[in-house]
Amino acid sequence: MGLADLPLVIGHRGAAGLAPENTLPGFRLAYELGVSAVELDVHLAADHLVVIHDDTLERTTDGRGKIASLDLQTLRSLDAGGESPIPLLEEVLAELPQGVGVNIELKGPNTAVPAAKFLTAFPELDLLVSSFDHRELAYFHHLNHEVRVAPLFNRWRRDAWQIVEDLDAWSINLSLKIVNQVIIEEAEKHGIKVLIYTVNDLSVARQVLTQGATGVFTDYPNEVTRAALTD
Ligand code: G3P
Ligand code: MG
Repeated sequence: MGLADLPLVIGHRGAAGLAPENTLPGFRLAYELGVSAVELDVHLAADHLVVIHDDTLERTTDGRGKIASLDLQTLRSLDAGGESPIPLLEEVLAELPQGVGVNIELKGPNTAVPAAKFLTAFPELDLLVSSFDHRELAYFHHLNHEVRVAPLFNRWRRDAWQIVEDLDAWSINLSLKIVNQVIIEEAEKHGIKVLIYTVNDLSVARQVLTQGATGVFTDYPNEVTRAALTD
């Protein structure tokens, strides 16, 4: 298990197709299903790194408004699904089983500094930090050289390989919509891994791995499993 064992099956927002996304029960379910790692999204709110995808509360909680406007007490009182609160990053890391990796996606602004600082306390964890915000990610990398980083792309960019090189990235994390053989071969030349999101169909997962991808993010780690992919 962990980020060293290929192919990688990464539970997207925990196991978002099976349990409320980005909640502790969702992460626990992903661990039980044998994922290599879990992926989660972080924002900065009430001086804490909180695990939630959107910058607003409506879609995944019973709250309203912007996550950044909340005080800690209000934030903690919200239901993020199944009567679970929005977790703090530290809570997820505290109960991460040994051998399971974690991909922290810097989703919100101003997350690089607190994440870089906070993660120095966890040198033993198998971590990957990613972001669509390549400047925020570069800032994180500048502050913390120990933790592996990965730029995310949902649209291809001509300067993508420059971004990869500048970041000394461990992997390039791509939307399924844009992945192709040329990109995968170029990633191999750069000596980096290719992780594809979000792959909920086992046959599609098999296909991208055959093309040379390193791993997939899935909402259904009960169907897209390492056992099924290594059969
Ligand atoms: O990191 C892969 C994936 O989580 C990126 O997209 O919108 O689900 O955070 P999103
Ligand atoms: Mg994400």
